[in-house]
Amino acid sequence: METAQAPTVAIDINGGKKIIRVKPGTSLLAGCARNGLFLPSACGGNARCGYCKVKVVGGATPPLAAELPLLSESEIAAGMRLACQTKPVGDLAIAVPDELFSVKRFSGKIARKTLVTYDILGLSIELTNPKTIEFTAGQYIQAKSMSYLGRDAVLRDFSIASPPSDSSGVDLLIRRTKNGIFTRWAFDVLKEGDAISFSGPYGAFRASESAAPMLMVCGSTGLAPIWSILQDLVRKKCNRTIRCFFGALSQKDLFMVEELHKLETGLADFKFIPALSSEPESGGWTGERGLITEVVRRNVPDCSRFEAYLCGSPGMINACIAVLTQCGLPDARIFYDKFA
Ligand SMILES: Cc1cc2nc3c(=O)[nH]c(=O)nc-3n(C[C@H](O)[C@H](O)[C@H](O)COP(=O)(O)OP(=O)(O)OC[C@H]3O[C@@H](n4cnc5c(N)ncnc54)[C@H](O)[C@@H]3O)c2cc1C
Ligand code: FES
Repeated sequence: METAQAPTVAIDINGGKKIIRVKPGTSLLAGCARNGLFLPSACGGNARCGYCKVKVVGGATPPLAAELPLLSESEIAAGMRLACQTKPVGDLAIAVPDELFSVKRFSGKIARKTLVTYDILGLSIELTNPKTIEFTAGQYIQAKSMSYLGRDAVLRDFSIASPPSDSSGVDLLIRRTKNGIFTRWAFDVLKEGDAISFSGPYGAFRASESAAPMLMVCGSTGLAPIWSILQDLVRKKCNRTIRCFFGALSQKDLFMVEELHKLETGLADFKFIPALSSEPESGGWTGERGLITEVVRRNVPDCSRFEAYLCGSPGMINACIAVLTQCGLPDARIFYDKFA
């Protein structure tokens, strides 16, 4: 007796480069992941981040109400949709950046877990399968938590803090988010020796090949991709001028200061400028004070020759973009990674 096959729809990716079949009603994000194509996502498929945008080139249906806040009118007209909300009921054709085909799933174990500050954790993941990873300094991975205390497993993005020359694993810097599902698990449940899985690498944040001076601005764990880039630049014997500004509230929020100052002798023309915005006068801090945007403006009043590399919260990045633009830096030379 013949058994009835469950109906499926075909998703054609990049003009036939890959064709997958998924059950009707499965989200594109989940359907692609089940078939080994890992699209970026920073909110676990909850229509909050916009990272999963894909171009639907055939069979597009109107966007759902949940997608509208994250899609402009021109994007909608061009067929852009959120892969986490698009649940095809008929055949579909989509176009994605080619580099997503090289994103893989990795398994590893926690080789080291250290408290870097009171609210920042350093994790070193040693890869077990596959045993090496190729990435470009500045990229990020998407890690999966385990379910705990009745919470389902979630996927969250973290920038790689280690350099690409260290291909046997990745280091992460994770800041505790109040009531955050992943970060609570990482701080309170995860232990050295535990298994962890992630997909990656993702993202286009990276040092350009130009010789222009670099202005790096980061806050908190926004240092992670900057640290990866800096270590890579040391290995490549980079002789570009680099000014690296690190904004924090007070001395207890600073970390890796010694390692960063050490690069002032390891790189041809590097200066590290930590700045505190809420440090009491009595704290003995002799370095820069004030909001990081104002500290940058004071130190580099004319940014016009620079390329900027910004990493941290969306608020910090938006404020930096405004100041850098006022200081003469064109948009095309401002690169950033927002920790949405
Ligand atoms: C490209 C990229 C790189 C990143 N790199 C790093 C890094 O190197 N280090 C780092 O520490 N972080 C990084 N982040 C941020 C990180 O991915 C997580 O967002 C962060 O750690 C919080 O995860 P969580 O699960 O603990 O918090 P969540 O549980 O996701 O909560 C985050 C916040 O959203 C609120 N929230 C949760 N659910 C909802 C909802 N349904 N509606 C409205 N609000 C809600 C919570 O109350 C909380 O304030 C990066 C993000 C991106 C996009
Ligand atoms: S995964 Fe965040 S909007 Fe789709």
